[in-house]
Amino acid sequence: MSTNYALRNASPAKTRTDAVVVGVVMTDKGPVLAEGGADVAAAYGRKLRPLMSSLGVTGKAGETTRLPTSGLLNAPLLVLVGLGEQADLVAVRRAAGAAARALPNASSVALALPATDAGLVAAVVQGYVLGGYTFTRYRKPSPDTRPTDVVVLCAQAKAAEMLEAFDQAQVVAAAVAGTRDWVNEPPGSFTPGDFADAALAAHQAATKGRGAPPVTCEVFDEERLVELGCGGILGVGLGSAAGPRLVKLSYTPPEAVLHLALVGKGITFDSGGLTIKPSSSMNTMKCDMAGAAAVIQATLAIAKLGLPVRVTAFAPMAENMVSGSAMRPGDVLTIRGGKTVEVLNTDAEGRLVLADALVLATEEEPDLLVDVATLTGHMVLALGERVAGVLGTDTLVEQVLAAGVRAGEALWPMPIPEEMTERIRSSKVADLSQHDWVRWGGGLYAAAFLREFTADLPWAHLDIAGTAFNSGAAWGDCTSGGTGFAVTTLVELARECAAEGDAD
Ligand code: BES
Ligand code: MN
Ligand code: ZN
Repeated sequence: MSTNYALRNASPAKTRTDAVVVGVVMTDKGPVLAEGGADVAAAYGRKLRPLMSSLGVTGKAGETTRLPTSGLLNAPLLVLVGLGEQADLVAVRRAAGAAARALPNASSVALALPATDAGLVAAVVQGYVLGGYTFTRYRKPSPDTRPTDVVVLCAQAKAAEMLEAFDQAQVVAAAVAGTRDWVNEPPGSFTPGDFADAALAAHQAATKGRGAPPVTCEVFDEERLVELGCGGILGVGLGSAAGPRLVKLSYTPPEAVLHLALVGKGITFDSGGLTIKPSSSMNTMKCDMAGAAAVIQATLAIAKLGLPVRVTAFAPMAENMVSGSAMRPGDVLTIRGGKTVEVLNTDAEGRLVLADALVLATEEEPDLLVDVATLTGHMVLALGERVAGVLGTDTLVEQVLAAGVRAGEALWPMPIPEEMTERIRSSKVADLSQHDWVRWGGGLYAAAFLREFTADLPWAHLDIAGTAFNSGAAWGDCTSGGTGFAVTTLVELARECAAEGDAD
């Protein structure tokens, strides 16, 4: 059943609904109801403090407490959700996400979380939608009934700015959820051909009807990839019975202020190839297409939002498998544009498919170039599972970091030391060597390798190997499995580009 979302100015105490959600902030003086909960606090009066105390409510981020209202509110159930010490954008988004999972049997809910500006309204919507995300395509959905009517309470619900944020947040949240769906698909059901079909279907859904945004979608099959000279994508695809693809999306708004090119790694399964992975590292490797999923979904979201930024996205898709026809260590591949690469580790396949796609992207002569990839385990070792690395040219790296802050996605800059380039250019048989078995700084070497294909454009590389997939339990608005990481940051980056263009 689909969910209805509405933005309304109403009292949470008086709203007729199954459940009311209110935030709790941790303070020196103990837990207090956050902005938006004033009417609820008034309805409980002096009873609230001792009640929260005996229920053990602390306001810690992620904590949810359900209590019957016994007629004090018009709703029978009150859900208190912890915001931590500060009710900032990220805290509100995470709390809304936790709240979405604390409503197992309500058919309607009113969210009375801090929503005093447009950013907070968006955070409530995005957090709630994504925190309640489930992937049930291959199992019986749990018998819980999730609310079908969701009201976001906001004192300035009539303000155009709030309504716009409310609508746009639903578009962005749907793009993140769409990314999660693709990442969560079992790899055998989501080969490069299946992935390209899914991209075509998403494109079609985004461009049907009057007033649809001007986006085109092309799928290049193996034969076209041969014509285009995409030796990297073809080489990685050699071991799989399911041939590679390349998806190209072009969004060309009439008054574009800037041209952004996006590239995303789309390895639908990474066994490592002949340089095979140990099984423990292979288990989650269906997530190796998360970069491609993110750039496709972000491009369609940017188009749906009508941002005046031209976007060209390339998503190279291949399955990295073991077979008699697989690429071997020692093979030399010719990347589009003619550079040759000596393959020394078939498990460093991402950089090979990205190389072709980056060259194709530079041929479009964009102003900015951004790639997103689950590229290296080294980045996971360095930054953990909740922070992604950003590498590239200084100004664009800064812009991406700033977009990440606005999006509430954790990104951290990493350097590309000069000696990496020497190592990359030291192959005895080809122009470049793909790998050199030095264990340290592998994520930086990978970025230096990609840089060889960026034609000196302003470029940023997001290594999302740690953040693309949550193999643990849900936290905040981040559910188990695919996370949809980078979609929101890319949309924010496009927003920033649009605003900058306006200022000129
Ligand atoms: N897809 C992996 C990187 C990865 C690791 C993604 C963990 C998500 C979680 C990538 O293709 C890979 O295998 N990288 C190698 C690079 C090495 C051979 C230089 C790695 O990280 O070991
Ligand atoms: Mn690999
Ligand atoms: Zn990989």
